[in-house]
Amino acid sequence: MIIKTATSNANVNVNANVNVNANSNASVFKLLMQYAQKPELYATGTIQLWEDPHIAKGMLEAHLAPDNDAASRNHQFIDRSVKWLSTLSPVEAAPKVIDFGCGPGMYTSRLAKLGYEVTGVDISENSINYAKEDAVSNNLHINYRNESYLELKDEGLYDWAILIYCDYSVLSPEQRQTLLENIKRALKPGGKLIFDVFTPYQYEPLKESHSWYAENASGFYKDGPHLCLFSHFLYEDDVYLDQYVIIDEMDQVDVIRVWDRSFTVARLQQEIESAGLKLSAYYSNVAGDLYNEASKSLCFVVEKW
Ligand SMILES: C[S@@+](CC[C@H](N)C(=O)[O-])C[C@H]1O[C@@H](n2cnc3c(N)ncnc32)[C@H](O)[C@@H]1O
Repeated sequence: MIIKTATSNANVNVNANVNVNANSNASVFKLLMQYAQKPELYATGTIQLWEDPHIAKGMLEAHLAPDNDAASRNHQFIDRSVKWLSTLSPVEAAPKVIDFGCGPGMYTSRLAKLGYEVTGVDISENSINYAKEDAVSNNLHINYRNESYLELKDEGLYDWAILIYCDYSVLSPEQRQTLLENIKRALKPGGKLIFDVFTPYQYEPLKESHSWYAENASGFYKDGPHLCLFSHFLYEDDVYLDQYVIIDEMDQVDVIRVWDRSFTVARLQQEIESAGLKLSAYYSNVAGDLYNEASKSLCFVVEKW
């Protein structure tokens, strides 16, 4: 499973968290009927994927698992990626780097070991706490900050920035614009941003679908027994939604929404250019593999000018 970001800052249609009385099954029914309908574009859920304390535990395990591509890419890929990034922005010429959505520090710790002056920003308190402890035990000096990159106000500080594992494309158009403004402001003139997104090939065979499963004890999205009703919705303009409706034994109903959109080269170029950034090069991924028409992901290297 690839886990993507639901941010807490979407500015549309926030559904209230509904704790339905165990006896009022009619309300549970109504709510489930409502969640079975296709939601308004970029409607947020009641639980935020990257901030929920229970989900954070499973998410941290997923980041740290060396061989899977769930929350972070597998560690062999990350090693290759960091090697490529360090040739693109050599430490002597571009020592100051910021990682937007650094998670528990998969890239930041490797970059710090190569001598970069690293800042890591992430909204997940659990990930940042892990990253800080890991830095102390490895004697690495990394500036970790538990904050939203949508609120970041840094100005002219960094030679380059990364935003890795298709985090850009989970945001609404307004949030993407805010993020690009924040990144641009944070970079020095001539500074680079390296980031990735999925292409339409990542989602191509997927159709709209609904399915469900039961957890008897605890699951990824909730502690304790619960049901999970899963829906995959498709929208215009290559936007996708994975929705998880969780019903627990107290009849509490929560919804987690994970939005994503895919990009072609032309569409992404248009977006970064309207934010005043310049495309320098593009690749198939953040390890610098050549892009081809069937690539499932796309990595852009863009410049502040
Ligand atoms: C798919 S993970 C990728 C983590 C890391 N870049 C990697 O590849 O190992 C997305 C990360 O973005 C973080 N994130 C999501 N929304 C954020 C926001 N608004 N501000 C800062 N971090 C955010 C999540 O907490 C998570 O650690």
